[in-house]
Amino acid sequence: MSFFLTPILIAFILVLLGWIFKNEHPGKKTDDQSKTKPEYQPWVDEDLKDSAEDHQTEDVDEFRESEENLEHIPFSSPRFPEHEMIKRSQEFYELLNQRRSVRFISDEPIPRQVIDNIIKTAGTAPSGAHTEPWSFVVVQDAEVKHKIRVIIEDEEEVNYKKRMGDRWVNDLKKLRTNWIKEYLDTAPFLILIFKKIYGITSSGRKKTHYYNEISVSIACGILLAALQNAGLVTVTTTPLNCGPRLRTLLDRPANEKLLVLLPVGYPRKDATVPNLKRKPLEEIMVLV
Ligand SMILES: Cc1cc2nc3c(=O)[nH]c(=O)nc-3n(C[C@H](O)[C@H](O)[C@H](O)COP(=O)(O)O)c2cc1C
Repeated sequence: MSFFLTPILIAFILVLLGWIFKNEHPGKKTDDQSKTKPEYQPWVDEDLKDSAEDHQTEDVDEFRESEENLEHIPFSSPRFPEHEMIKRSQEFYELLNQRRSVRFISDEPIPRQVIDNIIKTAGTAPSGAHTEPWSFVVVQDAEVKHKIRVIIEDEEEVNYKKRMGDRWVNDLKKLRTNWIKEYLDTAPFLILIFKKIYGITSSGRKKTHYYNEISVSIACGILLAALQNAGLVTVTTTPLNCGPRLRTLLDRPANEKLLVLLPVGYPRKDATVPNLKRKPLEEIMVLV
């Protein structure tokens, strides 16, 4: 009997029990493992994920050289008396507080010059290491606009009916949106904003574009403000899973990925918007 209680046998039984338990629960993961398991997120655009292959090292010498030789120049900016600053900031807030996403856009033409100025304004955005990782593709051709509409409606119908699930469709109900996007035909201009996930140096090597999505998103915000300032409307859209087809249609290079599409124009006379309320300052600002 004492044979059965030897420490070696007890250790053997414990190892055996551990092995049996592991094999009975092959799918069970430790806490750490389950934390790292990516949650299924159908609203995350596969095309927008920067693959490891896209992050090859830049031509370091060339980059350093251009940075080292950069001249630094004196800087000054306009300075306003305090009362003027308060007035200007209040007025700018009031202007931007009137901005709404408008999904009913008139086909009334708008001057090209305004679009040029708006894109120039967006191009003033800061960018990681001044890489300016953006392309603004402005579409005015009716046939190309219609092709864009066909691609987007095609994908969006699948998004609404199959890909996204009930929670997403429910969250959008209040906006009364669906996969029909008439504004893609009617808006006089469509602006498609691509992020350049890497640059190409003069020697043809890939150059890292640090924080390219943040940089392009900031440029988009400035562009929205510029549209509002000019009295135009848009709706920010992120056409899910349409990137590769739109990139091909518009003949964009492989390093450009579609981030945002903005139809631009005047609102239709019968345009409506959901009666949304914005959070008050106390809810969005933390003063430490
Ligand atoms: C990143 C982003 C993606 C959006 N995508 C869409 C979209 O695909 N379709 C749409 O109709 N509106 C889209 N919107 C617009 C939002 O629904 C809208 O901004 C929000 O409801 C608040 O309304 P407001 O813009 O009038 O303040 C998007 C907005 C953002 C910032």
